[in-house]
Amino acid sequence: MTILVTGGAGYIGSHTCVELLNDGYDVVVVDNYYNSVPEVLNRVEKITGKTVKRYECDIRDREGLEKVFEENTIDAVIHFAGLKAVGESTKLPLLYYQNNVYGSVVLFEVMSKFDCKKIVFSSSATVYGNNPIPYKETMPTGDVSNPYGRTKHFIEQILGDLYRSDDQWSISLLRYFNPIGAHESGLIGEDPNGIPNNLMPYISRVAIGKLPQLTVFGGDYDTKDGTCIRDYIHVVDLAKAHLCAVAKILETTGIEAYNIGNGKGYSVLDIIHAFEKASGKKLNYVIGDRREGDLPAYYADAEKANTELNWHAEYDIDKICEDTWNFQTKNPDGIK
Ligand code: NAD
Ligand code: UFG
Repeated sequence: MTILVTGGAGYIGSHTCVELLNDGYDVVVVDNYYNSVPEVLNRVEKITGKTVKRYECDIRDREGLEKVFEENTIDAVIHFAGLKAVGESTKLPLLYYQNNVYGSVVLFEVMSKFDCKKIVFSSSATVYGNNPIPYKETMPTGDVSNPYGRTKHFIEQILGDLYRSDDQWSISLLRYFNPIGAHESGLIGEDPNGIPNNLMPYISRVAIGKLPQLTVFGGDYDTKDGTCIRDYIHVVDLAKAHLCAVAKILETTGIEAYNIGNGKGYSVLDIIHAFEKASGKKLNYVIGDRREGDLPAYYADAEKANTELNWHAEYDIDKICEDTWNFQTKNPDGIK
């Protein structure tokens, strides 16, 4: 079985490639390396001892994508390629709609042309907006506060329309909660360009001395310690959820959404303390203002993925922090 992985050199894509290869799938990666480097795929090969066929190609490049489908028999696609910075999306909405929404439409058109109608799509818990917690798949979606989140909602809707127009499609929408952590080899992990936007890479760079101080965004929320609550999930657990979803779409037709989270909420201070324990370093942090657009608290009800995909998160927050620190210490300057 051959799986096309768009955005396969990125953070979640690379960990998923490892799990796919370890499970015996052949993997073809399409990535334009906008937010990654080819060396990541060499490291995937080193971890697995297997080869990754790769194309430097933008998903908006129809001819480039058609060549990939002409040269390979693709059984299913896992679609990670996209831009993901919430703040940037509010300043450059058209870039986000072009890259994420238009790029996805081109991909779906090329898949249709080559009669490949099985796809796992990287969606996000952000589509739930202001629903009560824990989030369940049956809740309404789309009340989203930023363009990035709206691209996820729109692509989910597009895939819904596609299935309603042709019931041969088999579609899995995975709504990720907060992926953090790294592969335990320390060879791959989250390696954002510039100053990180997200909590874990920021903490990790403060701990290694590359950044002076972490600002905790808000200490006055109505939560147990005043800081925001999120559902953090080990990226390897998340990668394994893709294997379960692929197995399902290969067997069935239809469209289903699944929450992929631990089902537990941790505060920002919980994460800081767990990271201090794992790294043996005292973290320099201050409590600052709230960040615009942040919700106080959310976490997953992951029952549907547990029962229908037979997927369960394995790793706890201590293991997540240990693996992040291992990756950071082995790659103090990132992956080059
Ligand atoms: P990432 O930036 O590390 O990986 C995305 C990859 O896609 C990168 O390698 C990038 O170079 C590539 N890419 C981007 N636009 C492309 C294009 N037009 N053509 C080809 N390649 C392109 O991000 P990630 O954290 O691995 O996220 C993967 C997916 O999961 C994204 O769609 C993201 O929106 C979604 N997601 C991520 C999170 C998170 O917190 N990391 C949460 C929810 C959903
Ligand atoms: N935080 C800080 N300081 C920082 C960075 C983050 O206190 O320097 C806090 C945030 O306020 C939030 C928590 O840490 O309470 C997590 O923030 P992240 O930026 O790491 O993650 P978000 O929950 O904001 O967003 C993530 C993904 C999005 C996705 C969203 C919903 O980055 O792509 O989850 O699932 F849309």
